[in-house]
Amino acid sequence: MEPITPSFNNIKNVGLPDFCFLEHLDENEIMNNISTRFHKDHIYTYIGEQVVSVNPFSKKEHLYSDQTLKSYHNMYMYEVPPHIYSLAQDTYKKLLLTKENQCIIITGESGSGKTEASKILMEYITKASINNKINEKANSATLDRSEIIMKLIMDSNVILEAFGNAKTLKNDNSSRFGKFIEIEFDEKGAPISGKIQQFLLEKSRVHTRAIGERSFHIFYQFLTSKEITSKFQLSDDPSYYRYLKDSMCFNVSNINDGREFKLVGQALQSLGWTQEDLDSMYRILGAVLLIGNLEFCNDQEKANVDAVNVKNPSILKKIAALLDCNEDQLEKSLISRSLTLGVSKRKSSIRVLLNTNQAMETRDALAKVLYDRLFNTIIEKINKAISSDIDRKNIESMIGILDIYGFEVFENNSFEQFIINYSNEKLQQLFINLVLRQDQEEYIKEGVEWKFMDNYFDNTPIIDLIEGQPVGLLKLLEEACLIGQNTPELLIQKMNQFFGKHNHFESYETTNNLSITNQSFTLKHYAGSVTYNLEQFIYKNKDPLYQDLINTMQSSKNNFLLSLFQLDFLKASNQQTGAKKIPTTMASQFKVAINDLIGKLNSCQPHYIRCIKPNDEKRPGHFDYERVKHQIRYLNMLETVRVKKAGYCNRQHYTRFLARYKMIAPATWPFWNGTVKDGAMEIAKVLIPSPIDRQAECQFGKKKIFIKSAKTLFHLEELRSKQMPKVCIIIQRHWRGYQARKWYKSELARLQQEKEEIQKQILRKKSVAKIQNCYLRYRIRTYFKKLQPWAVGPTYCKGKAIPTLWPKKSALEDLIQVIHITWWAKMKVCSLSMEQRALVRQKILALDLFGMGYFKKKEWDCRRKFSADYLSDDSNPKKLQFSEAVQLLFQKGGDKEILFADNVVKINKRGKSQLRTLIITDQHIYKYDSKKYTQKKVGLKIHSIVALSTSNKRDTFLSIHFKAPVRDLFIDLGCDSVEKVSEVSTNLVQQVFKLTGTTIPLLFREPLTFNNSRDSRTSGTDFVISFAHYPKGKEQRQCTFVKGKANTAVIYYPID
Ligand SMILES: Nc1ncnc2c1ncn2[C@@H]1O[C@H](COP(=O)(O)OP(=O)(O)O)[C@@H](O)[C@H]1O
Ligand SMILES: [Mg+2]
Repeated sequence: MEPITPSFNNIKNVGLPDFCFLEHLDENEIMNNISTRFHKDHIYTYIGEQVVSVNPFSKKEHLYSDQTLKSYHNMYMYEVPPHIYSLAQDTYKKLLLTKENQCIIITGESGSGKTEASKILMEYITKASINNKINEKANSATLDRSEIIMKLIMDSNVILEAFGNAKTLKNDNSSRFGKFIEIEFDEKGAPISGKIQQFLLEKSRVHTRAIGERSFHIFYQFLTSKEITSKFQLSDDPSYYRYLKDSMCFNVSNINDGREFKLVGQALQSLGWTQEDLDSMYRILGAVLLIGNLEFCNDQEKANVDAVNVKNPSILKKIAALLDCNEDQLEKSLISRSLTLGVSKRKSSIRVLLNTNQAMETRDALAKVLYDRLFNTIIEKINKAISSDIDRKNIESMIGILDIYGFEVFENNSFEQFIINYSNEKLQQLFINLVLRQDQEEYIKEGVEWKFMDNYFDNTPIIDLIEGQPVGLLKLLEEACLIGQNTPELLIQKMNQFFGKHNHFESYETTNNLSITNQSFTLKHYAGSVTYNLEQFIYKNKDPLYQDLINTMQSSKNNFLLSLFQLDFLKASNQQTGAKKIPTTMASQFKVAINDLIGKLNSCQPHYIRCIKPNDEKRPGHFDYERVKHQIRYLNMLETVRVKKAGYCNRQHYTRFLARYKMIAPATWPFWNGTVKDGAMEIAKVLIPSPIDRQAECQFGKKKIFIKSAKTLFHLEELRSKQMPKVCIIIQRHWRGYQARKWYKSELARLQQEKEEIQKQILRKKSVAKIQNCYLRYRIRTYFKKLQPWAVGPTYCKGKAIPTLWPKKSALEDLIQVIHITWWAKMKVCSLSMEQRALVRQKILALDLFGMGYFKKKEWDCRRKFSADYLSDDSNPKKLQFSEAVQLLFQKGGDKEILFADNVVKINKRGKSQLRTLIITDQHIYKYDSKKYTQKKVGLKIHSIVALSTSNKRDTFLSIHFKAPVRDLFIDLGCDSVEKVSEVSTNLVQQVFKLTGTTIPLLFREPLTFNNSRDSRTSGTDFVISFAHYPKGKEQRQCTFVKGKANTAVIYYPID
């Protein structure tokens, strides 16, 4: 980075970064320094806090890289090399510090780089402010809003350049309007809103311009879009349109119209333009171009008057279609004009026919007004998008950037140049006033030692000549417009009469200069002499817009077009209501606008960028010594440097100074009782301890302190910044103390309240306990009173006994018991596995069948597990044989499950006991040989069982009754002294129900009968069985079947 501290060895190499560092101040030194720097690619140089910029006419990427931009963040100007970034940073810093409005005035000739500088400024401010917001940890909504606002402002640049810039002989991208952009910030320095004001668009460029120049860029841009030209049936060849063809320039080497057009479209869309708005805009642009192609010819039918007709009605028709208005009315308003005669009630209107020249003038007026209104509407829409009513109340301060058209001299200078140069004079005057005159006047007023320098060029006389009262050039021009039939010659005569002897005015009468005709005059501007051709002055100043044209446009059915002419409706109604008149002529309107602007700039802290054009040929790296010297001269550069070098960079009222810096000096902190001036002196002592240096750096005026160099000011700020943490701690201490006291008080009150509440609660509880106690005692008393008659004894109760019976159970209690049992059972069942549940089901059925204890069958064991298969057990030595037999049985098919298998004693038809193996499957009852495990006879079908019977004694016999002729089966199921009657019976009842759906009965009989002798031929005889205990002394553990006479038998069973 370029060192900023002056090293005089550097002058020869890269030049000094600040002109104020020059030891011997003269024009040559300034020229040498600026030229050296320019050739070493240092295009920026300071004059104190101003930046002088020399247009390089070539891209200097490194100057604007992100890295360069970042290196300027939060830096002071004197710490970093001269750049527009440092000026932008300084402006933004001052805005944050002082909360005062700031403005940056960019001046310079046309093509000197003002517009580029404004873009560089905006880029920096955008990035710096957003970066600042991020550091401040702003809420994301504001951050987004700031980014959106800055993006919209940057985007609007593209639109404004397309519609307001054009190629001139001096600059390929010359701004043909002036603009003042205001970026408005909230208190934290976030951009929240914006405003753009435009000054006097050079609308005559739409129809006339010098050869080699172009009209506004947008015309060439939109013709590059085939889609649009074919949509509106327009020719895409610029040379087809007379308005574009006349100046014989269509392309600019370094401008890509097609690409720019796409950017414009995107920017318009980001501002919220709908496709309908865009289409209406293309229609107007197309119409403006076609209007230029309208031609007029004499009307043959009206031989004795000067009247014309439109020569090419097809074009007229196209224009009417594009503008969506009536074709006849449009023609009428182009070739004739309605005039109002008389006043009030005697008012009448006549139609005057126009000659060819007048018709052409009217035609151009229409094109101009359409374009001008379109431009203004675009700015209005931009303003609507970038400003916000909601944020308005949060606006704290603003930065205004003024980029107005630069001083211009052409071969033929017309009204526009006059206005442009007039505005440059005004800005130059502002500069002189703020930088040169006011500074010095203040030093003297304040009694500071100062030698007044007045050898700068003061342009006040030129401004007086132009806008002076009661007579000035503008006034004469306005008068000329009010009087009909006024000519340039008459106007010149008037000018000569008043200003013939004025130093800055020349005309053919006052000079021998032959180039000045009787239709022109020369003004000696601060930047050079310019000869103005008066030919179009009166017309352009009047800027007539014929009412008929306005009426025609107002009859359009296109809403967008109508909105361009809305103000005319308003004006008409204002005229009717007699509202305040707006100045009518262009120059007087401009005078009001520029004076307003100057007023606004005067109320801001100004910053300057002075742009210099190194050559007229736009040649990169070429330094035209004479051309630059001329600019240095008229910009009063030498004088500015002198004043700045000798002067003071900063002045502040003592009160403000003391308030801001009192923490620097122990004497003034925290209270100072003396005068403010003495206070400021105390601060200065700390700032510069050496009295000699202090005298050189600080001057104490009557009301203000003056600080000589920026360095001292920055040192002051640094001292303040160093003290600020201490101040902050004091403020924090007080604030925290205050907060803690506040908290303590509120906490004390809260605790007191809580205590009272607790006491109340305790009391309440005590009361409740007391009431409860009383009530309980009351209940006991009443109970005992009830008992008293019994308790007192027989003597007193007359023989009544104390009640001993419990009160009766209520139905509800029964129900609750049932519910409880049900719930208890459910809980039990739920805890069982599926297998266990099946067993429980069997046990319940067994319980149903056999009852508990002695009720139905004696001695059946409810707790015994029904194991079903007793032969696959390890206790069976022939276990394997048995399982083979079972496999064989299952292979025959039909049977799937063994319900019971065990050895039993079977009683045959002759009453003999036989040991058998009984296998009950899901389908059959099989009798097997209990040794060989072979099947005896066929299996008995379970579904043909009709009943079961047993005794209710302790025997273990069961009779299974089959449907005749199948024989009943009588078996002893207690061979191993374990009772299995209950298991077999339950299984059989369950299985018969499963197979047939009927529940067979289990009968308890004594004597018990069964028939095991019938077959298909004989019905057999019933066996009758009776039951008896073993006789005493002959007891056995198992039962015994003893056959009696005929078909009777006795079964002996063990005693209980
Ligand atoms: N800082 C710069 N760096 C490179 N080129 C520049 C710079 N400033 C200006 N130019 C060139 O000069 C031309 C004219 O600049 P512009 O800002 O339009 O001038 P003005 O607004 O003063 O009429 C630009 O189009 C650009 O080519
Ligand atoms: Mg410009």
